[in-house]
Amino acid sequence: MQIGLLGYGVVGAGVDHLAKELDGLDVRKVLCLNLADVTGGRGVTDIAEIVDDPEIDTVVEAMGGLHPAWEFASSALRAGKNYITANKALVAAYLPELLELAQANGAALRCTAAVGGGIPWLINLERCRRVDTVRRIWGVFNGTTNFILDAMHRQGADYAEALATAQKLGYAEADPSADIDGDDVRRKLVISVAAAFGALVREQDVPMFGIRTITARDVANFRALGKTCKLIASAEAGKTVSASVEPVLYSAGTPESAIPENFNLVSFESTNAGHQSYYGQGAGRYPTAYNMVQDCLDVRSGTRRFYTKDFVRAEVDNTNVFRHYYVRTNAEDAWLDSVAAAKGDGFAVTAAISQAKFHEWAAVQRQSDPTLFFAALQ
Ligand SMILES: NC(=O)c1ccc[n+]([C@@H]2O[C@H](COP(=O)([O-])OP(=O)(O)OC[C@H]3O[C@@H](n4cnc5c(N)ncnc54)[C@H](OP(=O)(O)O)[C@@H]3O)[C@@H](O)[C@H]2O)c1
Repeated sequence: MQIGLLGYGVVGAGVDHLAKELDGLDVRKVLCLNLADVTGGRGVTDIAEIVDDPEIDTVVEAMGGLHPAWEFASSALRAGKNYITANKALVAAYLPELLELAQANGAALRCTAAVGGGIPWLINLERCRRVDTVRRIWGVFNGTTNFILDAMHRQGADYAEALATAQKLGYAEADPSADIDGDDVRRKLVISVAAAFGALVREQDVPMFGIRTITARDVANFRALGKTCKLIASAEAGKTVSASVEPVLYSAGTPESAIPENFNLVSFESTNAGHQSYYGQGAGRYPTAYNMVQDCLDVRSGTRRFYTKDFVRAEVDNTNVFRHYYVRTNAEDAWLDSVAAAKGDGFAVTAAISQAKFHEWAAVQRQSDPTLFFAALQ
């Protein structure tokens, strides 16, 4: 396999390193901004040098961002080159277009590392669907937020302190918004929904609430209720697809409640196989490069399709998902009062209410109370 590698940062350099150890994976050219980073005179600064090179059959992208990643992906696929990427932002935003280009040009499109880093998640959804029907997917898909929540629960850290530690250890970026507000998880969910159900949902249609406003006081309240808070992405397929990203409170003894540090735990339930979970490192140079190189080997042995064969566009509908919610808000609200089943010091726990209705309410309530925090009870 003759590879054109795009990006030579944390993941790209890892792919180069792992590919060198394997026979038959030749990283022939590397698109980068600084030629001095790349050994062997393989660095190029013009994408045309890769897309127009007839010797290169596969483009591996570890650059990130939407642009120029989308333009590079579409020109590589149009040139009939296989496209392997870790770029969840790109795949979540352009999946229908990427699929169409890959199919029209007989090229493979794979992104195993984009969800779960080094965890074999998408490929096991693919294997499941060969013989079974996936009903539900859920889990901890983001190591940064898990690290913060775990530090708050286990070490009693407050939010700012836990975030600062995550940044110091390289688990959180200087601007952590994509992780803590849930965008990163939502992108992973959109890609997982495609692989699990063959359903194409739009990122902006999936309701999302992150952990930016959680406080040490909330965590103390959760402890008193015997619960641990995790940021959870979940989706279920029936007549419609339900999907959401929100904090969820798990009871002690559940696998989710015990996920430490920056680890991930992602699970699915299917008709015949039942419940399966995958635990591991959802990020990092070598875990992520590992799954990208696995994709290269799968494509080299003939894999062409994007995890599932057929896709249908689907609307997200959470109207019939019912949950109890822990809600802390300092703004009085008549609707919240009307659905509260219990009240504690500064918080309410609702009766079981429609998730769609609740997220709609929370989006409005946040405008009068930006400190609002909520979590669903599992
Ligand atoms: N890091 C992880 O653990 C992880 C896990 C799963 C998925 N991913 C995904 O993997 C991708 C790469 O992440 P990363 O952590 O490796 O990021 P990174 O360290 O910032 O590396 C990205 C590299 O791409 C280069 N680049 C950006 N735009 C370019 C352009 N137009 N032309 C040439 N080179 C360009 C950057 O150069 P400069 O540095 O000079 O700007 C940098 O070297 C992202 O899509 C990310 O979501 C990462």
